[in-house]
Amino acid sequence: MSLSSRHLLGLYNVPKEDIQLILDTAVTFREVMERPIKKVPTLQGKTIVNLFFENSTRTRISFELAQKRLSADTVNFSTSTSSTKKGETFKDTVKNIEAMKVDMIVVRHQSAGVPKFLTQFSDANIINAGDGQHEHPTQALLDMYSIREKLGKLAGLKVCIVGDIAHSRVARSNIYGLKAMGAEVSVCGPTTMIPRGIENMGVKIYNRIDDAIKNSDVLNVLRIQLERKAGTSIPSLREYHNFFGVTEERLAKKEGEILILHPGPINRGVEISSEVADGPNQVILNQVANGVAIRMAVLYLLGTQN
Ligand code: CP
Repeated sequence: MSLSSRHLLGLYNVPKEDIQLILDTAVTFREVMERPIKKVPTLQGKTIVNLFFENSTRTRISFELAQKRLSADTVNFSTSTSSTKKGETFKDTVKNIEAMKVDMIVVRHQSAGVPKFLTQFSDANIINAGDGQHEHPTQALLDMYSIREKLGKLAGLKVCIVGDIAHSRVARSNIYGLKAMGAEVSVCGPTTMIPRGIENMGVKIYNRIDDAIKNSDVLNVLRIQLERKAGTSIPSLREYHNFFGVTEERLAKKEGEILILHPGPINRGVEISSEVADGPNQVILNQVANGVAIRMAVLYLLGTQN
């Protein structure tokens, strides 16, 4: 079994079989993570470069750990200490790195489309670790893994993505992935944060968080992304919390169970209260742990293709 592409640029148009294969492969690597020695020789001899042009805690560490646990050689690139500070272009930077013979490139960039652009002049396998407001495929994969791990399935589940949908690459990748896997996807947030025409993606819209909670099995609560000018879409963070914050009081009105996800980093007291972020319904740190297994699965499947 192998993936239908040699890159992971996003989940748009990725076949269900590919997503299923990644999720199933990650189960094996999740077991490896529970062993005393959390390392397998699968990618021995492969060299992987992590190109992070934008800040990251979870994704960067998670990819690096995944690579080390697969026994690959890893190199980390950071813009602040690189020659891009001397004016070297992105393309020249990558071509110079590639001249050193690398097999795979993991890239995070503030501009949408950079991973695709890389495929035009690099022979390495390219993995998108988040590009602008476009896609964050491994985040959506680990979200789906975490839902499936807890609820046993994805097909037929009602999953609502709450918050700043317009600025969110996580929302976009989740919508593509969840729809491919047969989930019913909705979004909830202020109208200024819901992209016009999102219904055309087969997504339902809730304008009230209480309705979203009442009608969903899973809430994926997104961060209000102040660095992407989300603050201009709402009167204040306090007002956002009052109208859309996921709180214990709101969850208490729910009949039946609800699972709470958050991709992190969390703005406590804005999109989610501290009580919910640390409470019994959430799987936020499970998502982080599962992220390593998902990234191991993606690296393994792409790195061992013929
Ligand atoms: N969820 C996520 O992408 O977090 P980081 O920005 O810390 O990588």
